Amino acid sequence: MYRIIDGKAISASVKQRVKNGVEELSKKGITTSLAVIIVGDDPASKVYVANKKKACEALGIISEEYALPASTTQEELLSLIDTLNGRKDINGILCQLPLPSGLDENAVINAILPEKDVDAFHPQNVGKIMIGDYDFVPCTPAGIMEMLSYEGIDPEGKRCVVIGRSNIVGKPMSMLLLHKNGTVTVCHSRTKNLAEICRSADILVAAVGRACFVTADMVKDGAVVIDVGMNRVDGKLCGDVDFDSVKEKASYITPVPGGVGPMTIAMLMQNTLTAAKKQNNLL
Ligand code: GUN
Repeated sequence: MYRIIDGKAISASVKQRVKNGVEELSKKGITTSLAVIIVGDDPASKVYVANKKKACEALGIISEEYALPASTTQEELLSLIDTLNGRKDINGILCQLPLPSGLDENAVINAILPEKDVDAFHPQNVGKIMIGDYDFVPCTPAGIMEMLSYEGIDPEGKRCVVIGRSNIVGKPMSMLLLHKNGTVTVCHSRTKNLAEICRSADILVAAVGRACFVTADMVKDGAVVIDVGMNRVDGKLCGDVDFDSVKEKASYITPVPGGVGPMTIAMLMQNTLTAAKKQNNLL
């Protein structure tokens, strides 16, 4: 029998916790605020940004949205970040990725002040995650750790396999599992015997970006299966895991939608609250 890890319900409890924290700050006369920059008109990015704004509003976080045209120059974008870096009333800054071609993502990531970098993409924050001394954690891996903890799943001593080595998910995910004493293997497009390695996993995290990539034959009986995928197939959202077949083998599994996705936004809200607290010397 498998259990579905309900990202909607768990994210609601995280958001409630953040809402309480925002209210506590507000009683001290401190506001919590997030600036979100979006460049161009990628439809998926627009949806993500709209959801982030909605979440801010629901939790009492002030959100400022900067929707810039695809023709924006690198200088204009960096100049906006510079202005937001300097504003005391802005606690968090996020620039939605990917950026239109011609804009340098690394330069943008480097430009955001580390203490306002609620995505935890700046090299200083990445380095802090590596050594296990961090305030901000990238939102998707942080959300997955929150789900595991909520369900009482402790990675200690477990074989953890992460499929995907992106800077946003795969790499930080492997670090967080390692900090919790998991034995971690990271697989990617050049991995040999991928199915065999996946079959060894007690906790399997799929962050490949390919619909139904993980099939039942790649999953050990009783494994915990976490699906980070957000693939559009014929207009329908589906994950990296072939849910219908894999669920029969799993002990726990996350659905798509309603799994990791809602957690990512909840953790962004938590990072924004952390930024506000740190900037007011309350952490
Ligand atoms: N694009 C896809 N995921 C993310 C994210 O977590 N943060 C930002 N800034 N852009 C993204």
